[in-house]
Amino acid sequence: MSFAWAPMTDPLLVAALGARENAFAPFSKFKVGAAIEGLDGRIHTGCNVENATYGLTMCAERVAVYKAVSEGARRFKRVAVAAESDNLTPPCGACRQILWEFCGDVEIVLVNPRGKIETFRLKDLFPRPFDVSYL
Ligand code: THU
Repeated sequence: MSFAWAPMTDPLLVAALGARENAFAPFSKFKVGAAIEGLDGRIHTGCNVENATYGLTMCAERVAVYKAVSEGARRFKRVAVAAESDNLTPPCGACRQILWEFCGDVEIVLVNPRGKIETFRLKDLFPRPFDVSYL
């Protein structure tokens, strides 16, 4: 893990912060943005989309992954997650599983609007994952 404050010039982080503005979070009021960079350089974004049933809420990370896959992307370099907290927001357990299955041991960058950044490998956030290799 590494930690820094940096000027917001990285297009992936700018995209995640921008996607956060579209969050539909009337219940939690907790807005999250995500951006995922394909090997071809394309950036796909997502935000959390909440639902009155609560349980059907979808996290920003999964929206970004599913959008990317639906647009033909299959291999990924980095994922950024943006939220308004100094204790930077990591992907939830469900998102870690989906990220592992589509991205493997990808780089995960957490960021907030003040430019605080932490970088992880997914394997460190999600040790011993279950995946297709067990089937
Ligand atoms: N949320 C995300 O979108 N990503 C995360 O990594 C953590 C949580 C959303 C789900 C819900 O809309 C709100 O944040 C509060 O849990």
